Amino acid sequence: MLKAVGISKSFNKQLVINNVSMNFENNKFYSIVGASGSGKSTLLYLLSGLEKADSGHVEYDELNYDIANDSQLSKLRLEQFGFIFQFHNLIPNITVRDNLMYQQFMRGKKKNLIVDDLAQISSRLGISDKLDKFPSVLSGGEQQRVSIARALLNQPNILFADEPTGNLDSKTSFTVINLILDLQKEFKFTLIMVTHNNSIAEIADVQIKITDGQIAKLN
Ligand SMILES: Nc1ncnc2c1ncn2[C@@H]1O[C@H](COP(=O)(O)OP(=O)(O)OP(=O)(O)O)[C@@H](O)[C@H]1O
Ligand SMILES: [Mg+2]
Repeated sequence: MLKAVGISKSFNKQLVINNVSMNFENNKFYSIVGASGSGKSTLLYLLSGLEKADSGHVEYDELNYDIANDSQLSKLRLEQFGFIFQFHNLIPNITVRDNLMYQQFMRGKKKNLIVDDLAQISSRLGISDKLDKFPSVLSGGEQQRVSIARALLNQPNILFADEPTGNLDSKTSFTVINLILDLQKEFKFTLIMVTHNNSIAEIADVQIKITDGQIAKLN
């Protein structure tokens, strides 16, 4: 289980996350909504260990991020978490295939295993014919699906998704969301997703709203 225990975070003396505590149970879908600048991305970064809290701490299973060293934290992210960033940040000058393989090499996974998993996940996401292309020639929805494939190749226990449909039209958004939800059922992971879209947020098991650095459950 993922736990935030009284975490706070400020940037330039502006308090963005103010004493937030919450438990995230395994295999549930959590949506996070809030105004632009309210701290949604910051909260995901804190929960995934990409940012460190100023006070309080986050823990996942037995690991307390506050006590963990950098190598324990990067191992945690690499082995347990998947991250779909708000701006999908694919590496532009390498192919889709290399974008997908890169992180798996970093994890020390054997090449033949990577190739098998990659074929399976690409086919599931409908990007098998895009593997030898560069990200720039793909549509927004296709780039987003590559980003989802990259996160899922980690076989994460938690998938953090920061507005995974932010740049997509509403029809493509729902296709991508339904795909993520299908994959969640199939592969079993906790989904923590930031979204501006209320009708997507409402599908979640637990809806969270951030206001003035604090969170409230809406359901
Ligand atoms: N690395 C940083 N350095 C300085 N300020 C930051 C940093 N990251 C976030 N902030 C500030 O913290 C506040 C919250 O930012 P955050 O990106 O978490 O908001 P958000 O809710 O994700 O917004 P959006 O919906 O626009 O993505 C903003 O005022 C932002 O300027
Ligand atoms: Mg954001």
